[in-house]
Amino acid sequence: MKIIIKDNYDEVSLEAFRVMKEVLDAKKDAVLGLATGSTPIGLYQNMIKDHKENGTSYKDVKTFNLDEYVGIDRNHPESYYTFMHKNLFNEIDILEENVHLPYGNSKAECDAYEKSMEDVSVDIQVLGIGGNGHIGFNEPGTPFTETTHIVELQERTRKDNARFFNDNIDEVPTHAITMGIATIMKAKKVLLIATGENKADAVKAMIEDEPSVNCPASALQNHKDVVVILDKAAASKLK
Ligand code: GLP
Repeated sequence: MKIIIKDNYDEVSLEAFRVMKEVLDAKKDAVLGLATGSTPIGLYQNMIKDHKENGTSYKDVKTFNLDEYVGIDRNHPESYYTFMHKNLFNEIDILEENVHLPYGNSKAECDAYEKSMEDVSVDIQVLGIGGNGHIGFNEPGTPFTETTHIVELQERTRKDNARFFNDNIDEVPTHAITMGIATIMKAKKVLLIATGENKADAVKAMIEDEPSVNCPASALQNHKDVVVILDKAAASKLK
């Protein structure tokens, strides 16, 4: 793992953009694995700015998102489909037919999503990390061999995400569809971003503990090309 520590969120976002831009410059039809959450918003803003100011085009780019809630409509204001359109896709020249997000609640839908990624191969997978070490929605305990699957969300994850649902945990969906850890590990490059003290324990377990299902992100220790970009608060518990 290559670990980069920056002073604050804006610098983390800029550094993440540099890593992303290298991939885009090398391959104009790159396949991007994308993440939701507050963490990658700054990265996406840099991508939008670069598109508008420098004309970087996404016409040949394909995207595959990590995860989506189960049980809410795609057009729900808090669906990840809505999030991605609002925070990135509507502001760049990507073609809607090249945008992919998992959706549904059945094994067939999971398998179809997994297959669609195998057909292309992801060049760079963007990840945030949950306070409990989850990546995508792979909660602690998830075997590293899982591909796209349906998960039941843990209480901590639903609490963390209640801020998007009127601060009411009862409105947060109980299940999600997510790429599995084995899916994530197939990406050629992984870019994980984490900021804030709330992530410090998870970051420490991801980097310094033996890989274990207790911290899903620790599986990344076995990936050959991972860049982790942290702010000082998220890095504060590292040795
Ligand atoms: C959600 C998403 C994850 C994301 C995590 C952290 O649960 N499924 O992909 O990494 O939250 O979110 P945030 O960046 O808002 O802290």
